[in-house]
Amino acid sequence: MEKKTILWKAVCAVVVVALAVLLLSGLLNNHDVRYHKDALTRDELTHTKVEAPDTLAYDGTISADSWRETFPYIAASMDDNAKNDEIVSYLEQDPYLVNIYEGYGFAKDYGSARGHAYTLEDVHNTERPHATANCLTCKTPNFAKLVQDKGVEVYTYDFDEVWNQIHDMGEAVSCYTCHGNSAGNDGELRVTHTYVNKALGGNVQTIDPATLSCGQCHIEYYFTPADKETMMPYSSVDTMTPEAILEYYDTMVLPDGTVGFADWTQESTGAKMLKAQHPEMETYLQGKHAMDLNCADCHMEIKLAEDGTVYHSHELVSPLDSPAILESCVRCHGDENMTQKVHRIQDQITARETEIGNRLSAFKDALAEANQSGALSEEKLDEVRTVYRHAQWFFDYCYVENAEGAHNSQLANHCLDLAEQKIAEGMALLGK
Ligand code: HEC
Ligand code: HEC
Ligand code: HEC
Ligand code: HEC
Repeated sequence: MEKKTILWKAVCAVVVVALAVLLLSGLLNNHDVRYHKDALTRDELTHTKVEAPDTLAYDGTISADSWRETFPYIAASMDDNAKNDEIVSYLEQDPYLVNIYEGYGFAKDYGSARGHAYTLEDVHNTERPHATANCLTCKTPNFAKLVQDKGVEVYTYDFDEVWNQIHDMGEAVSCYTCHGNSAGNDGELRVTHTYVNKALGGNVQTIDPATLSCGQCHIEYYFTPADKETMMPYSSVDTMTPEAILEYYDTMVLPDGTVGFADWTQESTGAKMLKAQHPEMETYLQGKHAMDLNCADCHMEIKLAEDGTVYHSHELVSPLDSPAILESCVRCHGDENMTQKVHRIQDQITARETEIGNRLSAFKDALAEANQSGALSEEKLDEVRTVYRHAQWFFDYCYVENAEGAHNSQLANHCLDLAEQKIAEGMALLGK
């Protein structure tokens, strides 16, 4: 074949490919123009490889202030978490909780969560008693670092002593929490809370890092009876269901040889109770979005700075408050009104919570009465106490999840169904 023909063929091929690319990108752009006017995607992020600053905090962590010069937009956006500053008292909003949680700290003080900037302040101000430093687990990177350096014994250190030190020299949830000291290395995410690796082992790899970084704290956890270490009650995504976790607690062998973990024993009913805590990651991972999206996709807006830097805003917002994040829903939800969709779910779940919470409270009163009157045998009472423990667990698992059904309405309703069944079963046993 002549050289000219080869050259000609090559030119043609290039032209064809170029046309195809133009056509395709045109189509995609069209789609973008229609649906994502301003929405930026992960692909447009500008990852900068930089040296980590060499200014270390007292414990060897790199603080947000030290990163500020390198990542000004990210650091400033993290500061914006202070804007989310309101606390609603759940006990005033839902008075039946005071009765259900009788004998436990949450009956004294239980306010809604607010921005990460307040974690240290709020853990100090709560009227819930905190005997040891383990309450600091999810409030500050400096406690995570202390556990890494000194081991599980720090969970039993005196709360005030550790809090004072961190309050003076450390910081609230910060860069180190989610990135270790490597935020400069493309924002690589690192697990800094040791119990995550202990509980999940190799299964850590099965969870998207941008979900697991939040899942270091937005999870159900307990303090191990032996050394008060913070721990997750499962070992894989498959065992992150309310049923499997209840089974885990029910069958746990305690240091004294008895079986069954309890957060507290309730005086009026004699029941060994469990308190669920914000199982956001567990609820989310059993839901409809688990395969395709991570926490950052819905709670961290991708922004464009004046100098052209594209970055993840580190202000953790509700997707409903961010037009840019709402734009990203269109890809799968089309022109469905997402705010209405979310509110419809939340209204339905909250209405059921109020109704079932009040019934649970009435069940508790009936059990307390039976416990005090001596009308039932201890064996029969124990049977009802277990039913009550389980009803409370399923109710709580739904109630304390902060998305109010939006992360997974099916699971929220399932928990409420189970609570309802258990209440009916218990009332029947009491002859009510
Ligand atoms: C070190 C533990 C920790 C990590 C990691 C963490 N959070 Fe939080 N988060 C908290 C605590 C504690 C609060 C409540 C703070 C308060 O009320 O003082 C909170 C509050 C929030 C709130 C405000 C809740 C409200 O009702 O206003 C949002 C939203 C949130 N976190 C999202 C996230 C997301 C998304 C991630 C991952 C990118 C994440 N968090 C990672 C501990 C953590
Ligand atoms: C598909 C989008 C989506 C994903 C992914 C998602 N969330 Fe949410 N999340 C929501 C919506 C919607 C709400 C309800 C917002 C509201 O009430 O304004 C919410 C509420 C919350 C809240 C309560 C605070 C608030 O702003 O109302 C927290 C905390 C939270 N999510 C954490 C997480 C964590 C942690 C993950 C990952 C395990 C996650 N979310 C994944 C959509 C999402
Ligand atoms: C609560 C967890 C959390 C905290 C605290 C946090 N980050 Fe991030 N960071 C993330 C997540 C999640 C991403 C997105 C990663 C992804 O999806 O690829 C991210 C991304 C980044 C990136 C990559 C570029 C980008 O915008 O996506 C950099 C750089 C970064 N963070 C720096 C920091 C710095 C500096 C701080 C402290 C001022 C900080 N981060 C605090 C969770 C966190
Ligand atoms: C990758 C595709 C995809 C994206 C992106 C997506 N969703 Fe979804 N979402 C789904 C699918 C599939 C369902 C299940 C069908 C349905 O309920 O519409 C769903 C369901 C939901 C539900 C109902 C969940 C439940 O358990 O009842 C809510 C709420 C929701 N999405 C909110 C959002 C929000 C808010 C965004 C944008 C921040 C978003 N989704 C982005 C695929 C997606």
